[in-house]
Amino acid sequence: MKELDFTPRNLIYEGKSKQIFAVDDPDYVIIRYKDDASAYNGIKRAQITNKGVLNNKISSIIYQQLEKNGIKTHFVKRLNDREQLCRRKNVIPIEFVARNRAAGSMAIRLGLKEGFELPTPIFEMCYKNDELDDPIINYTHAIALGLSDSDTIEKVKIEVMRVNDILTPLFAQLGVTLVDFKTEFGKLPDGTLVLADELSPDTCRLWDADTNERLDRDRFRRDLGRVAEAYGIILSRLEQLK
Ligand code: TMP
Repeated sequence: MKELDFTPRNLIYEGKSKQIFAVDDPDYVIIRYKDDASAYNGIKRAQITNKGVLNNKISSIIYQQLEKNGIKTHFVKRLNDREQLCRRKNVIPIEFVARNRAAGSMAIRLGLKEGFELPTPIFEMCYKNDELDDPIINYTHAIALGLSDSDTIEKVKIEVMRVNDILTPLFAQLGVTLVDFKTEFGKLPDGTLVLADELSPDTCRLWDADTNERLDRDRFRRDLGRVAEAYGIILSRLEQLK
């Protein structure tokens, strides 16, 4: 059998918090997690020592749990402290958000008190476009702009709600409230829809269930301090999972 070489080769993309490298096999990429923190579409930036290591480990555990529960993802395996091997996919240029409580941009937009428990989860879409500040869109915008098609969006919506149904009790069992989270999806060369990107305190709002202490990127956005410590709490709780 052919020995696969997963040594990172060329940098093919660099985002605010991750780098993506090609490997010899064109079906795979290596994703490298950086310590760069950003907020407000990159206006606020800093280095948080060890954040990349924590997010790589946290996201790897979450993706393994999701795979175990039947969610198809791009994740293959964690390679080391900062890198994971993932399947190469074409990412849909839409951010898909699920919300269980009002917080962040939705609390502001709709005049809701942060923490208000939504009677049913909310599904939102944002056009991934930094120049436009990732504006919120609906199904008809997505289709008219050619970002995706109705069948794919319907499938993504079902998948995002399944992810929410898996992760909400998983975090609750660890004493953490999953307030909201952002996902990205892509298609493998054979057309299979997969969950892409990461799920970590950078992309989820995670509150301590007893104290409502913020254990996510809001600590950085809102200058609450102890960012890496909060991410470390999330990792140590996830490591309790069997
Ligand atoms: P929002 O309330 O700021 O719209 O964020 C909703 C969720 O999406 C929250 O869990 C944070 C996450 N998110 C990202 O991961 N990246 C982003 O660029 C933004 C704006 C939000």
